[in-house]
Amino acid sequence: MKWLNLLALLASAVSIPVAFGQYTVPPGSPGYLLGSSTQAIQFDSHSLLIDGKRVFIWSGEFHPWRLPVPQLWSDVLQKMKGAGFNAVSIYIHWGLTEGKPGSLDWNYYRSISQFYEVAKQVGIYVIARPGPYINAETSGGGLPGWLTTIGAVARTNQTGFVNAWQSYVKQFSETTSKYQYPDGPVIFVQSENEFYVSQAMNPTASPAMALLETAFRQNGISKVPLTCNDVWPSGNFASGLGQVDIYGFDSYPGGFDCSNPSVMPELPNYYVSAHASADPYGFMYLAEYQGGAFDPWQGPGYDGCEELLGSDYSNVFYKNNVASGATAMSFYMTYGGTNWGNIAEPAVYTSYDYGAAIREPRTLSAKYSEQKLQGLFYHSAPALLTSSILGSGAGAPFASNAGVFTTKLGGGGNPTNFYVLRQMSNNITTPISTSLTIDTSVGSLKVPQFGGTITLAGRESKILVSEYKFGNSVLRYSTAEVMTQTTIDGSDIVVLYVLAGQNVEAVVPSTATAATVTGSSSIKAKISNSDAIITGTASGISVVQFGKTTVIVADKATAFTFWNPRTVASYDVSPTVPSVLVVGPYLVRNASISSTTLALVGDTNGTTPLTVIAPAAVKSVTWNGESVKVSKSNLGIGLSASLTKNAKTPSLPKLKNAKWKSADSLPEIAPSFDDSTWVTANKTTTLNPFPPFSGKIVLFADEYGFHSGSFVYRGYFTGKATGINLSLEGGNNFGYSAYLNGQFLSSNQGFFGAVQINDTLTFPANAVVSGKNVLTIVTDSSGLNEDWNSNDDFKHPRGIVGYKLVGGGDFDTWKLTGNFGGESFPDNVRGPLNEGGFWAERSGAVLPGFDDSKWQSASPFTGISKAGIQVYRTKFTLSVANGVDAPLAFKFTATPTSNYRSLLYVNGWQFGKFISNFGPQTVFPVPEGILNHKGENEIALTLWSLDAQGAKIADLELVALGAFASGKEVVSGLVTSPTFQQLRT
Ligand code: GAL
Repeated sequence: MKWLNLLALLASAVSIPVAFGQYTVPPGSPGYLLGSSTQAIQFDSHSLLIDGKRVFIWSGEFHPWRLPVPQLWSDVLQKMKGAGFNAVSIYIHWGLTEGKPGSLDWNYYRSISQFYEVAKQVGIYVIARPGPYINAETSGGGLPGWLTTIGAVARTNQTGFVNAWQSYVKQFSETTSKYQYPDGPVIFVQSENEFYVSQAMNPTASPAMALLETAFRQNGISKVPLTCNDVWPSGNFASGLGQVDIYGFDSYPGGFDCSNPSVMPELPNYYVSAHASADPYGFMYLAEYQGGAFDPWQGPGYDGCEELLGSDYSNVFYKNNVASGATAMSFYMTYGGTNWGNIAEPAVYTSYDYGAAIREPRTLSAKYSEQKLQGLFYHSAPALLTSSILGSGAGAPFASNAGVFTTKLGGGGNPTNFYVLRQMSNNITTPISTSLTIDTSVGSLKVPQFGGTITLAGRESKILVSEYKFGNSVLRYSTAEVMTQTTIDGSDIVVLYVLAGQNVEAVVPSTATAATVTGSSSIKAKISNSDAIITGTASGISVVQFGKTTVIVADKATAFTFWNPRTVASYDVSPTVPSVLVVGPYLVRNASISSTTLALVGDTNGTTPLTVIAPAAVKSVTWNGESVKVSKSNLGIGLSASLTKNAKTPSLPKLKNAKWKSADSLPEIAPSFDDSTWVTANKTTTLNPFPPFSGKIVLFADEYGFHSGSFVYRGYFTGKATGINLSLEGGNNFGYSAYLNGQFLSSNQGFFGAVQINDTLTFPANAVVSGKNVLTIVTDSSGLNEDWNSNDDFKHPRGIVGYKLVGGGDFDTWKLTGNFGGESFPDNVRGPLNEGGFWAERSGAVLPGFDDSKWQSASPFTGISKAGIQVYRTKFTLSVANGVDAPLAFKFTATPTSNYRSLLYVNGWQFGKFISNFGPQTVFPVPEGILNHKGENEIALTLWSLDAQGAKIADLELVALGAFASGKEVVSGLVTSPTFQQLRT
């Protein structure tokens, strides 16, 4: 055993938090040196401690670069904080940051310092995950396209790779170092991602990891732990070379097929034992736990994922994590966002909604509410953070019904017990009733004691407590779950919930002589033998008051409308920080008290009753800055009001009626087309591990600096060829069209699973000329592969990977092009992956400010009657009212029998790739800021008909996906969106 582990073991045996110190990596050393106990962030085998206080990490994943409007980041983070999330986990994208080797750009949506500032303002910790490899369903798994051309194998300790990431890791670390807690919100930095230590796949994973960790430490990450995200609780980097300070692993028990959303997978049962052997000295940190799923091309769509991995799943699975001892978990994703531009890897399409708690248009899903109830509870149950598993099993000794599986957690020096109950299988959708034998300070009790039962619906899990402290009061037990607690004016309040109609029995020792019940009378209360005894069924809200104690019982659907914001700025969301209870609104973002006024900030989606439970000193309430008329609440506690501000759904222009201008976007097929400024493909060798299939010249687009979207090739030959054997790669569903001397030859629309397409094209006799022939190939790519196995899979080439003329001869010259400027792209705002190589993109016709006055008038709804690519432009104005958050989207009417693909550019940002026959996405949300909600918008749409019969778009509409009277940060018009004049002239 390494000395370090021994120290950690000693520390954990006596529960002394382990602080970590300055990281040094003497060659061959196992990892970190134990450091000063004054370090703000410490941990032991139970939990993380921040400033000496135990904390449950309830974290969610969000990729700022998938929402490239920094003024919307606060919206997402406030929504997360409202649901009890005290941390946000972010991937940082190397490929988007360093589009050209050596030129890093950390501005705009890539600004980590701006993100940290927003998180600090909101009061939410940040788990920074810079990779450099991130996976994340993004092109190359976050590796830059130019890395495909280096000889070294990525994710190894080979010099070429290590040199490649130096600047990125250094600049990330230097910036992040200024935001390490307590100077900023960053509490962890994750090194690499799902990095297998496996000889077969990557024999140098450990030294490669150690080099990275040294670089983080040497460049300023000195105050916060380094973490990992193991692909499985197998102990990679929990010890040995490359060891991290805090070991984490991920788990996706629901899989990634959302086509049968009502079939819920069973619970994994290996976490406890696997974690105990993988990481015996650390607490259980689920660095990524499934919070939704990505949906592949032709998948069922994200609503299926939201259903499959929705509120029931969150209920059963996340509580099972707690039953397994997890005290830190981060849900991947909590806000998914958009694969705008060419951010996606080949498996996925434009939307990265992920069926997450916060949907792509930033609206709240049903599971958001479930996560809120749990998140608030975990922060309200500090005893959980020192507890251990004290027993588990089906039926006895806990549940009277053998169909109920119980895990008991407790110990750790305090009397609180937690009983995590669930049914035996997630297949069961019918309710089951049981009693439960629990430990209390008055001995073992079989509850409920006074009639009724504990009911578990199908796919319902409950965490029931005994001897649970709230303020100076103690809940001896409750057959309803605890949502949260707060102490206001010295009075202790606990909020309990069960599904409507389920029994509730709760006992609170009290010296009071009487208990009153106000609100719903479905709950009764009495004082008997110094106990307040609360019984009944939940329906609406019942308020039980006795002495200086209040027990609120709500049915679960009503509990979903409860919010518990802290009233002072704080990362800490535990009950020691003052808070209020707010009931009713769609969202409460923030609360603060100044003198006698409670100022609330939030969102409503219609007239909403509001109840606030706040200190007695509060006499007036404002909502989004406007005062609301309050009166005493008829709940018998707090103040009530009605929020009447209505958000009108904005009226939206009809794109079908708009004036459209149009031009040919495939002029390259004309023999006379001038390609003199294009790159001449002249490489005959490549370092790429997947060498050309055939042909003298290497035609991989990445070899010539084109890493994004589509590519156009022009190959010249003389002679009498009768056809060509052509091989292309482009990822799933990539397509191509081929033309000879301007004449359409054929297309291939690709398929899911396409690695390589090999076609033989026959040249029509009348198409070949005796002199110089020019073959034009336009092809797209669905992104670079990921590199999950660390085997350079992302280097699979894009574009033409092999060619041979049939009938003799060879090409004299090959020219190619891709996105404008290649790696020297001029658009340092939208970055390297926004544009591809279609003429409409290269010429700047997709940019705002492009002069289309000389173009013909023609609409995409008429389309084209031959194979080819056409580009259409239009403008429209929006005037969404102030204070209204109205997420908007472009909705295509699908015509699956038609074979076309479209790119949708909104003010120069590519926010949709629609493939008519590969779906499933037809609705493309575009965030405010990319769409100007208060002014003019310029749209460009390409229409690539792969078939000779042509194609048209059946319909494209602008639709609103909701309308909220919102207290979110105001988005000031468009994000910086350079124009045609700035980028092309
Ligand atoms: C994990 C990986 C993430 C993401 C996820 C699936 O294995 O760490 O980056 O790819 O799978 O969405």
